[in-house]
Amino acid sequence: MTYQTITTQSLEGVLTITLNRPEAYNALNTQLLSEVADVLDLADQDESIRVAVITGGPKVFAAGADIKEMAVLDAVGVMNDPRPKHWKRIYQFSKPLIGAVNGYALGGGCELVMHCDIVIAGDNALFGQPEINLGIIPGAGGTQRLIRTVGKPLAMKMVLSGEMIDAQTALQANLIAEVVIPERTIERAHQLANTIAKKPPIAVRLAKEALLKAFETDLESGLNIERKSFTMLAATEDRREGIAAFMEKRKPEFKGR
Ligand code: CAA
Repeated sequence: MTYQTITTQSLEGVLTITLNRPEAYNALNTQLLSEVADVLDLADQDESIRVAVITGGPKVFAAGADIKEMAVLDAVGVMNDPRPKHWKRIYQFSKPLIGAVNGYALGGGCELVMHCDIVIAGDNALFGQPEINLGIIPGAGGTQRLIRTVGKPLAMKMVLSGEMIDAQTALQANLIAEVVIPERTIERAHQLANTIAKKPPIAVRLAKEALLKAFETDLESGLNIERKSFTMLAATEDRREGIAAFMEKRKPEFKGR
């Protein structure tokens, strides 16, 4: 498959998606979003892909929805916009999605960060929901996911004032997992991706699913989901292999079975 607004590379179970609209600070136009969703859909069905890394490259992650594209939409146009479906497909990617963020992650860019399971940021990264400056509000889950992730005080400050936060603040607020020097962002994301790619894929998938459910459910329902997944894993070859390898003091070889 060829793409116009992203580049992709896959190596040893890790798919890397690089947003590629440098002339627009990787603004997430409909084509880019649909290409990201398409490639993740394909990767979901491809057993050889274990983890995906998404990055904007060394300078900018993404400066948000494409304002020039948005400008021509009236209310009916926004209502019929296919973009929410693409966001949903990105959210539904069942394997780990690691974000490697340098520079601006604004608006839809910050929302894309919140669609990632783990985010590594360069110390030059800036996160923000500046939609208020355009007379709108975040439209890809920003109000809901940001408040659940960083809590009310910071989410309110970011969404109502449009002010950006730096990488250290994002780290303290649990929006991201690690801060590194910008030259190491993609390398560190790959390091983590390679580690996860060697883990048992069914367990990884069920762990991601159970963790994300914590955003949506009460504790009792979440614990039930965890228990069912835990029980299901008892039927996998990978569990037998993992436990046998521990007993035999050797490295496990997981097959995703
Ligand atoms: N959409 C379209 N084009 C964009 C863009 C965006 N979100 N952000 C930047 N660009 C384009 C600029 O138009 C400019 O292109 P031209 O040279 O052709 O004019 C180019 O990228 C570089 O931008 P600047 O000249 O503005 O660069 P800067 O370094 O001075 O500022 C910036 C960088 C602070 C990111 C600034 O560009 C900016 O504020 N961008 C908009 C950020 C924003 O408001 N994002 C939210 C969008 S709405 C949204 O995301 C809704 C949602 O929830 C889904």
